[in-house]
Amino acid sequence: MTISTTQFTNPATSTLFDLVKSRRTYYALKPESPVSDSVVETIVKDAVLHVPSSFNTQTTRVVLLLKEEHKKLWNYAIKIMEGLVAAGKLTKEMFESNTKPKLEGFRNGYGTVLFFVDYESLGPIKEKFAQYAAKFDPFALESNAMSQFFVWTALEAEGFGANLQHYSPLIDGDVQKEWNVPESWKLDAQLVFGTPVADAGSKQFAPLEDRYKVYGN
Ligand SMILES: Cc1cc2nc3c(=O)[nH]c(=O)nc-3n(C[C@H](O)[C@H](O)[C@H](O)COP(=O)(O)O)c2cc1C
Repeated sequence: MTISTTQFTNPATSTLFDLVKSRRTYYALKPESPVSDSVVETIVKDAVLHVPSSFNTQTTRVVLLLKEEHKKLWNYAIKIMEGLVAAGKLTKEMFESNTKPKLEGFRNGYGTVLFFVDYESLGPIKEKFAQYAAKFDPFALESNAMSQFFVWTALEAEGFGANLQHYSPLIDGDVQKEWNVPESWKLDAQLVFGTPVADAGSKQFAPLEDRYKVYGN
């Protein structure tokens, strides 16, 4: 679905929309990077700094894993899934035909960005604004998701392909131990990235008429 963006007065807005529209899920990746690691680090650090959070609580935490460290993560995931097979919680057939190839595909990327939320850091603000207390945890997750989207889009703008995964809580213990992650950091998502070796494929769009209303225009 393409909506004309020619009406923008600022050419940067058109560029922004081009980047947003070209962000897709890429599963077929190879362990190469189109840019230097410092570019990837800049993207991740700027996301941590500049993506907004409710009341500026700055609850997002990130661990960036590159190359061998990235592989370690997905080796842990494979080992955990093998454990589930051994425990009778996942069939061997499902593991061999589906789970393992998928995880090996992630392992074949160049890096993974681990996105965490530090909910414990919200203690003081929940006390200060007691009437909003129940809102702060969801707000923190929403802010985290904004970082995920921003990093995903920026990495793809730099020539990567990426896909977003959710293997928490299965991998939480290994992640915490291996990369010395504070206990208060709760893992939400894993953004796997690498050089794409296949297109993202086609995408269906539900009708905009069912999803958008405007009044007063
Ligand atoms: C909040 C969220 C959670 C997602 N979780 C997963 C996931 O666990 N595994 C996965 O392979 N893709 C996941 N995706 C990717 C979506 O399936 C994908 O973005 C969607 O199908 C649209 O395709 P596109 O990314 O190519 O535009 C997730 C996306 C979002 C926004």
